Amino acid sequence: MSIFGNEDAIEIEPTRVVKNSLGIDLGTLNTVIAKPSGDKFDLYQIPSVVAVKKDDPSAVLAVGEEAKKMLGRTPEDIVAVRPLKKGVIENVAQAQALLIRAMEIGINEGETVGRIVIGIPGDASEVEKNAAEEIGRKAGAEYVLVVSEGLAAAIGAGLPIAEPNGTMVIDIGAGSTDLVVISLGGINDIETVRVGGDDIDNRIVELVAEKYNVAISIHDAEAAKMEVGMIHCSEEFENLSYEVIGKSLETNRPKKVVIDSMLVADAVEPIIQAVVGGLNLILERLPAELMMGVYKNTVAVGGSSRLRGLKERIFDESDIPIQISDDPMTVVAKGTAIVAAEPLALEPEVRLKAMK
Ligand SMILES: Nc1ncnc2c1ncn2[C@@H]1O[C@H](COP(=O)(O)OP(=O)(O)OP(=O)(O)O)[C@@H](O)[C@H]1O
Ligand SMILES: [Mg+2]
Repeated sequence: MSIFGNEDAIEIEPTRVVKNSLGIDLGTLNTVIAKPSGDKFDLYQIPSVVAVKKDDPSAVLAVGEEAKKMLGRTPEDIVAVRPLKKGVIENVAQAQALLIRAMEIGINEGETVGRIVIGIPGDASEVEKNAAEEIGRKAGAEYVLVVSEGLAAAIGAGLPIAEPNGTMVIDIGAGSTDLVVISLGGINDIETVRVGGDDIDNRIVELVAEKYNVAISIHDAEAAKMEVGMIHCSEEFENLSYEVIGKSLETNRPKKVVIDSMLVADAVEPIIQAVVGGLNLILERLPAELMMGVYKNTVAVGGSSRLRGLKERIFDESDIPIQISDDPMTVVAKGTAIVAAEPLALEPEVRLKAMK
């Protein structure tokens, strides 16, 4: 019946609303958004940074790139901060602003978000899981699912997660490292070590100050790590060098320092030892039935997996020949998008799709 009571009137179809599914990897350093598009994904990335009022950290003034540009250059009363620390949501209002921005980026104007899947650290507590779900719903999604980043990474990397043999993901990000064993489509075991690329950058700053009496910026430390970084291992890699200008702690004047691969490897050492410690715990608990799968199918993901020597060092320490993902910083987002697009993502057919 029409609203005018006129039986002949043509009923007007409600405007068709496009409902999107989005996968979001809410990372410590980067938030990656993946939107399923046919068999592929449209990928977007924003820095996980928001600008807030100093005296009211929940009043978000800018998000992402815009906020990042304010880092170090903000007026006195505004600060640029990260809503996540060590992979954990520190401030709900800030994380929500980040998530809303991520959703806006992932959809076109006039569209809505039907389903979002958010990747969170595997050891997140119920409270943290609920917080992430709540934020997603408040940000306007109709259906929110949170999944472990490790499981999402495995799906995104096309690992055979549904098989009973087992497979493992080592996700070394900026704030945390997740080691996840998966079999029969679920998480068999997980170990989260709260170390990552940020700790390496901090250690580089410390080592340069100790060795050369020069203070350098954390950004230069990160740049040096990315350019010449390596991990001590049984194989020899070329010792590259990277020049930065810091502040002499003796004269307060500019001073040039050369950061070489050996210095970065020294800075990585405590971090890689912590990761190996986590791996040893996983191996200690691993049922023999899963060893073959883990031996054959372990993949390292996360930005820090790009450090030269990771594969070799893990083999030295564990006899497991790992593979390094060729798109380490987007696999988690891709995995969440696969789950968002296909609620049956853990079924074998979808796994095949994930491998494309
Ligand atoms: N080529 C590279 N060599 C070494 N480290 C790198 C390289 N590229 C990126 N990184 C590091 O990877 C980290 C970012 O990785 P990623 O985007 O996976 O982290 P995240 O998902 O934001 O963090 P988390 O998962 O811990 O919440 C940073 O510490 C960055 O310095
Ligand atoms: Mg991550």
